[in-house]
Amino acid sequence: MKVGFFDSGIGGTCILRAFKKLCPNEETVYIADSKNCPYGNKPTEEIIRLSEANVKKLLKKNCKMIVVACNTATAAAIDYLRAKYPEIPFVGLEPAVKPAALRSKTGVVGVLATAGTFHGRLYNETKAKFAKNVTVLAVQADEFVTEVEKAYRGLGVLEVLEKLEDLEHLVRLEPVVRRRIEPLLKAGADKIVLGCTHFPHLKSVIEKVCAGRAEVIDPSDAVARQAKRVLERMKP
Ligand code: DGL
Repeated sequence: MKVGFFDSGIGGTCILRAFKKLCPNEETVYIADSKNCPYGNKPTEEIIRLSEANVKKLLKKNCKMIVVACNTATAAAIDYLRAKYPEIPFVGLEPAVKPAALRSKTGVVGVLATAGTFHGRLYNETKAKFAKNVTVLAVQADEFVTEVEKAYRGLGVLEVLEKLEDLEHLVRLEPVVRRRIEPLLKAGADKIVLGCTHFPHLKSVIEKVCAGRAEVIDPSDAVARQAKRVLERMKP
């Protein structure tokens, strides 16, 4: 049984990497739809169409479970996919606003994600439920997506996974990161949520900028744990 992953590009490999650490013996297939990246500003119908095309490819490769390793695709398409393919378990992602809001001491949290994610039902419901008494500063950092894609252009998934072990490899992007993060820190944010799977690729740089001022919340391990739980439930 194979576990499928897809993202608008190479971003979701951070979820794949976390999953492989938890479940090293599982066979995985990863689809990076880099030719249609970014999804972030595309209309919902288009993201649904692209997501379904990725799902069809994964099903052809015999995947029995699919991780939508993209916040934007989850926001736009997971309800549709679950309804259309009821026999396939889908694991999705949404920005970790709940833990950020619950743990914030300043009452200000920063969320970095795409326009598509910010317009989605999941994000807005979670925010309304768990962040009522917290100021949530939503920031679209589309250039992070472009920069991460550029950094990996021409590489295969295995090469990207290797690169991910090198914390320093995107350190040159510090000025790009600082431009987005500094205003959030200045506004008092003590939690920074990585609400797009391209952003954990910049985690060490983001952490460097936030050092001593804010905690960076990366959902990759939590999503991998959820995927493992779903997989275990499927096994006879
Ligand atoms: N990696 C995707 C996400 O998690 C989005 C990047 C894009 O805009 O395509 O939202």
